Amino acid sequence: MCGIVGYTGINQALPILMDGLEKLEYRGYDSAGVYMNDGVEEDLVREVGRVKDLEAVVDKMEIKGTAGIAHTRWATHGKPTVNNAHPHKSNDGRYYLVHNGVIENFKELREEYLSDIEMHSDTDTEVAVQLIGKFAQEGFSTFDALRLMLSKLDENSAYGFLLVDSKEPDMMYVAKSKSPLLIGLSEDGNVVASDATAVLNVTNTFLELHDGDIAVVEKDKVTLFDKDGKQFEREPFILDIDPSQAEKGTYPFYMLKEIDEQAIVTRNLIEHYFIDGMPQIDQPIVDAIKYADRLYIVAAGTSYHAGLQGRRMFEELVGIPTEVHISSEFAYDMPLLSKKPFFIFLSQSGETADSREVLERVNKLGYKSLTIANVMNSTLTREATFSLPLLAGPEVSVASTKAFTSQIVVEMILASAIAGGQTELQDQLSKLAVDMQVVIDAKDKLKEIADKYLLNAKNAFYIGRGADADLTVEAALKLKEISYVQAEGFAAGELKHGTISLIEDGTPVFAIITNKSTAGLTRSNLMETEARGAKAFTIVTSDLAKSGDDIVIPAVENPLLSPLLAVIPTQLLAYYTSLGKGFDVDHPRNLAKSVTVQ
Ligand code: M6R
Repeated sequence: MCGIVGYTGINQALPILMDGLEKLEYRGYDSAGVYMNDGVEEDLVREVGRVKDLEAVVDKMEIKGTAGIAHTRWATHGKPTVNNAHPHKSNDGRYYLVHNGVIENFKELREEYLSDIEMHSDTDTEVAVQLIGKFAQEGFSTFDALRLMLSKLDENSAYGFLLVDSKEPDMMYVAKSKSPLLIGLSEDGNVVASDATAVLNVTNTFLELHDGDIAVVEKDKVTLFDKDGKQFEREPFILDIDPSQAEKGTYPFYMLKEIDEQAIVTRNLIEHYFIDGMPQIDQPIVDAIKYADRLYIVAAGTSYHAGLQGRRMFEELVGIPTEVHISSEFAYDMPLLSKKPFFIFLSQSGETADSREVLERVNKLGYKSLTIANVMNSTLTREATFSLPLLAGPEVSVASTKAFTSQIVVEMILASAIAGGQTELQDQLSKLAVDMQVVIDAKDKLKEIADKYLLNAKNAFYIGRGADADLTVEAALKLKEISYVQAEGFAAGELKHGTISLIEDGTPVFAIITNKSTAGLTRSNLMETEARGAKAFTIVTSDLAKSGDDIVIPAVENPLLSPLLAVIPTQLLAYYTSLGKGFDVDHPRNLAKSVTVQ
């Protein structure tokens, strides 16, 4: 996590840095800071809180200059305080550093090399900049001091570093390993950012950085070095994203915009993945999956929940046994693998550290893998054998919505293509896109329920069976993460084996009902909660609806696709609950969008 942006060029740097920080806030927002140096004067400004808090301070100052670095933090080492905020500086005041990642052996390094140096923060990052300062004082050039510092980090450390030597303030030193960082190139100057969307207003031409790379960025030149200090060249790539896609427009929050975009994203996926009504997936991917005797879907959070839905598709359509695993568990508690395993990584960001750890292990074992991600050119897409895009456009809100639905659509397209292509799938998905819009347009009813029954709720439950049970955990996660209502997603039949004792007068319980064979059973389970005081609600497809049902959504011909509609009311319930409680919907407390620490 943490967002990094830096600029050196002919334009004023501050507006570029502040704009970049705002766009990077999804990566962390407990404090922010900026360092600028125009060759005569320098300014280091750091503030606790959001980027707008930093902006308020910066606005009152007359900071000028055409180069600078900035950072927005998601705390890992040390509380969100001014002293712990980045940039950090070396004690001699020469070096300024921002960092994304974790230095695992920072305590050992501090003891071994810096025992005589006064530290000003609790962070691992300060150790890095103090080491650079110390090595420079011993006679190393800035470049060599940086490399020497990097060589002291243990192999589990993750970093995106952006360093400025105040003696040459127009120059930025960059190093990357396991944390995202790229360089943007433009006629007027060059930028460094942990996410391309932060600097799309400056350029759409980027240089990818790989683990171990070091770069020296000047206003008219970028020089790349490998980890041994050997210079090399790499072709830049053009990122084809319209900068306005990453803007909120007239929406109060990104989350609502992103919920609204789900129909259009589904249409984009149809356009991309179908030719003449048949799903198209590159043959080597199809062959590799067909060759496997078991699929392992690995992911975290909402992406893991999309994997739960994918399991059914691969088992039903392709006939390959499929397991779904939480990446942070799988890395350190791997089950006995089958003889011919194939791994599918699901990720919106493509940078989730827990999933990257698994992929690294899978690569060491020599197995093939596929990453399905929204951010192409991300680490998980680069390091897997194959990758497929989610094409959801930038997802900015911390709560993932459109990435979830696009993951399910792509899993379905993939499973169908491997199964030989279902001619009816394109029509089913097109109809679904229309129906998504219908569900989205019925927002007001969800707002009413949220306002009346969820704003003051202490806890809430989602229940369902089969695919609906898998969906309940996503529904509950969404409610928890942005509205702070304790919520659980549960297999409806399991509730009576213990958890039902949590039901009190007025506890909201939502039953998701999209499957004919279990609809009656789920309704009975819902009634059992009602008999114990729950305020019961149904989210039900029209073919199974009865009078008195609360949220009726269109019936879906293919049951494997029903979660794509049923999830939308749950996203909106979470959104309106958070909104009604006056929370910053897009930036829930303690969270960050891209979780790049394990
Ligand atoms: O970028 P990823 O899809 O790999 O991220 C995984 C989770 O961190 C993410 O889905 C998280 O759970 C979201 N906050 C859910 O809304």
